[in-house]
Amino acid sequence: MNINTNFLKLKDSYLFSTIARKIASYSKANPEKKIIRMGIGDVTLPLCKAVIDEMQAAVCEMGNKQTFRGYGPEQGYDFLAQKICEYYARLGTQIERDEVFISDGAKSDIGNILDLFSVDNTVLIPDPVYPVYVDTNIIAGHNIIYMDATAENEFLPMPDQNVKADLIYLCSPNNPTGAVYNRQQLKEWVDYALNTGAVILFDAAYEAFISDDSLPKSIFEIEGAKRCAIEFCSLSKTAGFTGTRCGYTVVPMALEKDGTKLNRLWLRRQTTKFNGVPYIVQRGAAAVFTQEGQSQIKQNINYYLGNAKIIADALQKKGIWFTGGHNSPYIWLKCPNNMGSWDYFDFLLENAQVAGTPGAGFGKNGEGYFRLSAFGDRDDTHEAVKRILSL
Ligand code: MLT
Repeated sequence: MNINTNFLKLKDSYLFSTIARKIASYSKANPEKKIIRMGIGDVTLPLCKAVIDEMQAAVCEMGNKQTFRGYGPEQGYDFLAQKICEYYARLGTQIERDEVFISDGAKSDIGNILDLFSVDNTVLIPDPVYPVYVDTNIIAGHNIIYMDATAENEFLPMPDQNVKADLIYLCSPNNPTGAVYNRQQLKEWVDYALNTGAVILFDAAYEAFISDDSLPKSIFEIEGAKRCAIEFCSLSKTAGFTGTRCGYTVVPMALEKDGTKLNRLWLRRQTTKFNGVPYIVQRGAAAVFTQEGQSQIKQNINYYLGNAKIIADALQKKGIWFTGGHNSPYIWLKCPNNMGSWDYFDFLLENAQVAGTPGAGFGKNGEGYFRLSAFGDRDDTHEAVKRILSL
């Protein structure tokens, strides 16, 4: 046998696993110290009542012969997909049921979607970026080119007519920088993709954090996007599903290559390699899109955005440059005193017992930056900020 040697081209370990290992080792050496975790964007508030009620009802159904369910449709139950279509309709975008695929989260689909594309594709990825885009393309053996996201372009790289790419990753609100594309900017990307025949892989996992109504939450709000984009979304951050696992991917019927619909390829891929998200989880997910669910998750989102404001105010007080935290749960700051990202990680962990994410872990342009997550507990956020201010 031969192994996929592309794995040998990856860094030793996935960014958040490396961080978890470093925190565990510090914690073992300093068991008396309380570490405040602002690294991986993991939520801390429980699932909302509307979700729990539905999941409990679904659990009871599963214990009853008349209502028990076995295998569900690989692409998700209609009752959830329909709710997602209604959500898109409220954004002013018409998405059909067959265009929605329920998944166990955006991360898996972002990696799995590469099954649809041949190995000779050139992939354009922003730097810095959520590491899954890069790692999955390394594993797939694709040719990766990068576009710089820097303070100069407000971390929102725009198309360069001299660059030829087949697949383009965009993430808005951005992980890690918190930057959000406006309509005009996304329109430029859509036009570029339509002109060059590229496909945009649009990660909208943080769309629920957009509070500014003028900003687009979905790429499908942009005319022409259904002919050139696939959108990934997740309930992880929107509704606290990081441990429960549910997301969705929209592959429009209008997206074709030489008459082949990518939607049909994805359906074929999912029916072959995936057996769907548990019924109980999908029932909970459907509750997120009800009026009651929307108002309950909004309260949680506002809580996290409140944390972001507490962090932002403290950084401002301390004269530390930062961006994000407004339409995003992430604060992207410049490491003080020109410290390197990993040095600042060690410094904060050792001196304040606050764990964040080094910007360099998201790409070379992230060097010298640091990401703090606002998904923590409110008291912990206050405490972390107090510790940072005291340094
Ligand atoms: C992050 O911290 O970037 C995210 O939580 C990671 C993820 O969503 O997989």
